Amino acid sequence: MTPRVLSGIQPTSDSFHVGNHLGALQNWVAMQETHDCVYFIADMHAITVEQDPKTLRNRTLLSYAQLLALGIDPNKSTLIVQSHVPEHAQLMWVMSSITGLGEANRMTQFKDKSAKGGAATASVGLLTYPILQAADILLYQANAVPVGEDQRQHLELTRDLAIRFNGRFGETFTVPEAHIVKGTAKIQDLQDPTAKMSKSSPSGCINLLDPLKTTEKKIKSAVTDSDSVVAFDPVNKAGVSNLLTIMSAYTGTAIPELVKGFEGRMYGDLKKETAAAVLSFVEPLQAKVDSYMTDPAELENLMRKSSTRAREIASKTLADVHDKLGFVHP
Ligand code: TYM
Repeated sequence: MTPRVLSGIQPTSDSFHVGNHLGALQNWVAMQETHDCVYFIADMHAITVEQDPKTLRNRTLLSYAQLLALGIDPNKSTLIVQSHVPEHAQLMWVMSSITGLGEANRMTQFKDKSAKGGAATASVGLLTYPILQAADILLYQANAVPVGEDQRQHLELTRDLAIRFNGRFGETFTVPEAHIVKGTAKIQDLQDPTAKMSKSSPSGCINLLDPLKTTEKKIKSAVTDSDSVVAFDPVNKAGVSNLLTIMSAYTGTAIPELVKGFEGRMYGDLKKETAAAVLSFVEPLQAKVDSYMTDPAELENLMRKSSTRAREIASKTLADVHDKLGFVHP
C-alpha cells in the first residue's frame, strides 16, 4: 500500500513565510510523487488564540490558494480545511482522555505562547492544541509527517499517544514518523539569526506574498557578523549561514559550491544574490496566488471535494476507535 502522509499549516498570517516553505511545504509538494498525501489548513488550531472571524475566513482561502500555487495538486492530494472534517474534533476528545495534564503542560509551544499573553489568560484550547494535532495525524493513519524542527515535540506526543492507545485497546493507529529534512528544518530570523523565522518578528521574516521591494529590503538588511568571509558555519556565523541556506534552496546550488563562488567577495554580494534568488521564486508564485483568489467559489469547490474523500478515511478510523473504547454502536 502507498504510504500515507499528513501535514497541516495554520492560516494565521496574510502570507506563508520562507520558513514554512523551506521547512515544510516544499516537502509536502515533493512527497505527492511517492505518497498518498492529506494536507490541511489548521483553522481549528488558529482559534486557540484571539482572532478576527473575517480575517480568519480570508486567510483560510488565501492559505488554500498559496498551497495550490506552491504545487499541491488536488488531483493527487487530499487538500482540506480542518473544520470541514468533524472527525478531527471527535478523535481529539478521545485522545485528550488518555493524555496526562502534566504531559500537556510540558509542551514548549504552550509554555511560549501562554507566557506571551500571560499564563492566566491562555485558553484551554491552547493547552490541548497538541492533542488536536495528534488527532489530525492519527485519524488518517499517517506514516510520515513532513514538518519543521519546531514541531518535533508535538510529533513525539502523537507517537506516545498512538502507542498508549494501541497498548490499552489493541492495534488501532499507525505510529507516525516525523519527516524533518535536515538543512532547511529551521530557517532563522533575518534580524536575529539565533531565533527561528516567524511572523512575530516582521522585519526578520520573509513572507512569500510580501511586495518584492519589501523582500529585497529585508534581505539586504539581514544581520550578519563583523567578519567578512562568506562561510557556512551555523554556530559562529548564523546570519551568513542562514542566507546561504535560503539561497541554496531557491537556486538549487549546493552550499559548498555557493561558498566557493563567494570567495574574496563581500556580504553585500551574498545578500544581493540571495534576494534575487528569492524574488525569482516568489514573483511567479504571487501571480498564481492572485489568479486563484479571483475565484473563491472554485476554491470552496475544491475544498468540498477533498473533504468528502478525507471523511471516508477519517470516519473509518473513528468508528474503529469508538468500537475499541466500548461505545455502543449508534
Ligand atoms: P505552523 O502553521 O506554525 O507552520 C507550518 C509548518 O512550517 C514549519 N515552520 C518552519 N520550518 C522551518 N523554519 C522555520 N522558521 C519554520 N517556521 C514554521 C512548521 O514546522 C510547520 O511544519 N501545529 C502546526 C500545524 C499543525 C500540524 C498538524 C502539522 C496542526 N496539525 C498535524 C503537522 C501535522 C503549526 O502550527 O504549524
